[in-house]
Amino acid sequence: MRILLIGSGGRESALAWKISQSPLLEKLVIAPGNPGTAAYGENAAVQVTDVEGLVSLAVEMKADLVVVGPENPLVEGIADDLVSRGIPVFGPRADAAELEGSKAWCKDLLERHRVPTPACRVFSDLNPAISYLEGGARYPLVVKASGLAAGKGVIICQDALSATGAVREMLDEKAFGEAGSTLLVEEFIIGPEASAFALTDGRTLMPLETCQDHKALEEGNNGPNTGGMGAISPNPKVGERMRDTIEREVLLPTLHGMNHEARPFQGVLFAGLILTVAGPKVLEYNVRFGDPECQVLMMRLKSDLVPLMLAVATGKLDECEGPEWDSRCCVTVILASEGYPGKYPTGMPIHGLGDVASGEDLQVFHCGTALEEGHLVTAGGRVLAVTAMGESVSDARERAYAAVDVIDYEGKIFRKDIGEPVEEAAEVVL
Ligand code: GLY
Repeated sequence: MRILLIGSGGRESALAWKISQSPLLEKLVIAPGNPGTAAYGENAAVQVTDVEGLVSLAVEMKADLVVVGPENPLVEGIADDLVSRGIPVFGPRADAAELEGSKAWCKDLLERHRVPTPACRVFSDLNPAISYLEGGARYPLVVKASGLAAGKGVIICQDALSATGAVREMLDEKAFGEAGSTLLVEEFIIGPEASAFALTDGRTLMPLETCQDHKALEEGNNGPNTGGMGAISPNPKVGERMRDTIEREVLLPTLHGMNHEARPFQGVLFAGLILTVAGPKVLEYNVRFGDPECQVLMMRLKSDLVPLMLAVATGKLDECEGPEWDSRCCVTVILASEGYPGKYPTGMPIHGLGDVASGEDLQVFHCGTALEEGHLVTAGGRVLAVTAMGESVSDARERAYAAVDVIDYEGKIFRKDIGEPVEEAAEVVL
């Protein structure tokens, strides 16, 4: 099979690594890819923002399948364009990608179909928002931009002063552009976080293994939110009962809700959850694999990913066996650039990567790297994802952090507690 993979981050590096192992693969092109993906296929210099260029590339290379890594091209309708040209695509059409493209629409859908989610109010005008925040609102609460804001449009506010400030920034000062022209004011809930993933062709749902992101920049879940500073799988907070509850109360009603509203979803459903004493609640939906959750999932996936993705794209998931998983644990630690998630320098030479003993149990996936005159340099906020398997989480942690120590560049930052048990503020029924 000839496969086009779209994207250039750590998630796409892990997908490219996994797809390249498929016996069905004839050719893999990654657009635009990164220096790491070049080891698994051929990089093509077409950017993820160039939807027309990506579609032309898929046509030219006679792709049998296009796998869309990031959300933006999906929200812009790349799946619709590809399907109209007869090319199977792993990723939802634009009307289904609204699930991530508009948090306000997603919230409405969840409420209409009784999927548990924190209570919220939606605002597009400043005055009603300010009146609510200075009047009846209970604190702390969360202000969220409705549109795509690259993981940055979520602000936890302790009081009316910070909440009105956040709302003014979004609605008045357009800090997040069009993405913040509608916003949500959401109830703040506490509990462990979980990322739940399921493949679906719109009819059959195939939940994947459990995992947990570490979104905060600093140890102990402190500091600003990031795209994710590390992940583990399985998620120690999600036992059998909680898995069943997530499938029954969250994923299935969402899938049925999308069908009911004539927006069938094909691709990977990604629910960002908080596990509360009253059960899981959906903080947000995404329409693609998580980054860095994808890295740990791909390491643990034993089955061939390609037939599953093709079955999702062609509506034949009911003909597939559920995937086989490595029963061991996986930990990924993100190496980032000092300053991230704000401004950070690029072009810092990366040393030591060649000294890491990569293999089946240890992979360093490239996230934001580039080649400058033949030397590998930093090129993003998140630079590398050091990913290791182990018999236990602590075993996997030890292996990952040993490799982290070998890699160096100016301004290297990382969390030292990925996978460490944390004290949770709320007890959870598992
Ligand atoms: N790691 C969270 C995300 O990909 O949105």
